[in-house]
Amino acid sequence: MNYPDWLTKSVANRSQGFLLEGFVPGAGPKDARLVILGEAPGRKEIASLVPFSGAAGVELDKNLTLAGLKREQIYITSAVRSRPYRIQQGINRKTGVAETKYPNRTPTKKEVLAHAPITDYELQTIQPEIIIPLGNIGLHRLLGPKHSITQDHGQIITSPVLELNADQDGYQWGNHVYTLVPMFHPAAIFYNRKLAPLIEQDWTNLGELLHTKS
Ligand code: URA
Repeated sequence: MNYPDWLTKSVANRSQGFLLEGFVPGAGPKDARLVILGEAPGRKEIASLVPFSGAAGVELDKNLTLAGLKREQIYITSAVRSRPYRIQQGINRKTGVAETKYPNRTPTKKEVLAHAPITDYELQTIQPEIIIPLGNIGLHRLLGPKHSITQDHGQIITSPVLELNADQDGYQWGNHVYTLVPMFHPAAIFYNRKLAPLIEQDWTNLGELLHTKS
């Protein structure tokens, strides 16, 4: 999506001082039925400028297929649109030379708040029928920290979502009521293979829901 200048400038300003690099715009049609809200881009996405173009994206595509969906039909974005990284100093095992690495990390609450105007803008522009938060970062951004993906995954939740407040320093509930279906983040499977049957069931159920709604 092309964002207005005021929006990208505001988010760049709000992101000052955080260890964030690059900017990956959300991708997909403006009239999409579904919006997927991930966590933040990683190194692959920062290079390709395509959301979910790395290993998690391969899993996401498998999940979408289970629901009978193709990427082109969906608008895909994340709670933070820049890559959060750590500075890691160490010694290279092979060469013995000191080196600095910049691995990906989970975005902080403050970083999600800094990027909140973008998510608000995307949802207001697209007004999707269904929002799929992937993992706790996306889920907390929309429904607050009392929710948990372990509890909510695969559930159909009808609710307003959190948006940036008037003082731009926290959240308030928006007016629009959305249908949300939270899902495990596709990368969750890399850390816990046992989630596979749950994830498969959730996406298959989503396919059925979309079918009955269309
Ligand atoms: N994980 C996300 O949440 N978003 C991306 O774009 C890539 C990985």
